[in-house]
Amino acid sequence: MLVNKKIVSVISLLKNIQRDYTPAALASSFSAEDMLLTDIITKHVPELNIFTLDTGRLPAETYDLMQRTHDRYGAVVEIYAPDCSVLAEYVQAQGPNAFYNSVEQRKQCCAMRKLVPLKRALSTRKAWITGLRKEQSVTRTDIQRMEWDAAHGIPKFNPLTEWTEKEVWDYIRNNDVPFNELHEQGYPSIGCAPCTRAISAKEDIRAGRWWWENPESKECGLHVRN
Ligand code: ADX
Ligand code: SF4
Repeated sequence: MLVNKKIVSVISLLKNIQRDYTPAALASSFSAEDMLLTDIITKHVPELNIFTLDTGRLPAETYDLMQRTHDRYGAVVEIYAPDCSVLAEYVQAQGPNAFYNSVEQRKQCCAMRKLVPLKRALSTRKAWITGLRKEQSVTRTDIQRMEWDAAHGIPKFNPLTEWTEKEVWDYIRNNDVPFNELHEQGYPSIGCAPCTRAISAKEDIRAGRWWWENPESKECGLHVRN
């Protein structure tokens, strides 16, 4: 499908979500995909909400992009943060970087900093929207545009499933959409600072996420498949 047709199709899906599932929201990590969707939502379907899970461990460049997004589009992104007393207790007991010790400890950190706030963010929503693409990972090759998210009991929409990386970037450049500076320094996929590294040209695009783990365990639990 031509990119213009893909854009029209995304706008139409987002309008249908707004019509049938209000209140619905885009979960944005400020990735290139999420910035593309933010641009489309603010221009064409501003009734849709946008939220981010601010883990407190994001790279400085992501906070910089958060500011530029605010400057460009206004206060459109709702912030969900971890519970500070739970966080303080965990860090005091295990240390600030315990996620390097085991997959289990890493998942505990992701649960506290992302999954619990996500549950809160979705508790008032009838559907959520993500920037997931099939091409991103071996764990994502069969994602659908609409899925049932059993963990949260609402539908989850992935409008960019069929988009290629090049198409995403063409949209970003053509529409002058703000993006994370780290993308130009070898970081195609960006999460928390201590759990993301740059990759080389021949590596998988998610190779820099939790790089010390196997590809099969490299999901933080936001996108559990049914
Ligand atoms: S992750 O599960 O490995 O962290 P990834 O970074 O590829 O996910 O992002 C995939 C999609 O998950 C994003 O397009 C976005 O919809 C959602 N997402 C990931 N991280 C966050 C976050 N911190 N806040 C909000 N949404 C997020
Ligand atoms: Fe914690 Fe790393 Fe998960 Fe961020 S990505 S929540 S720092 S384990």
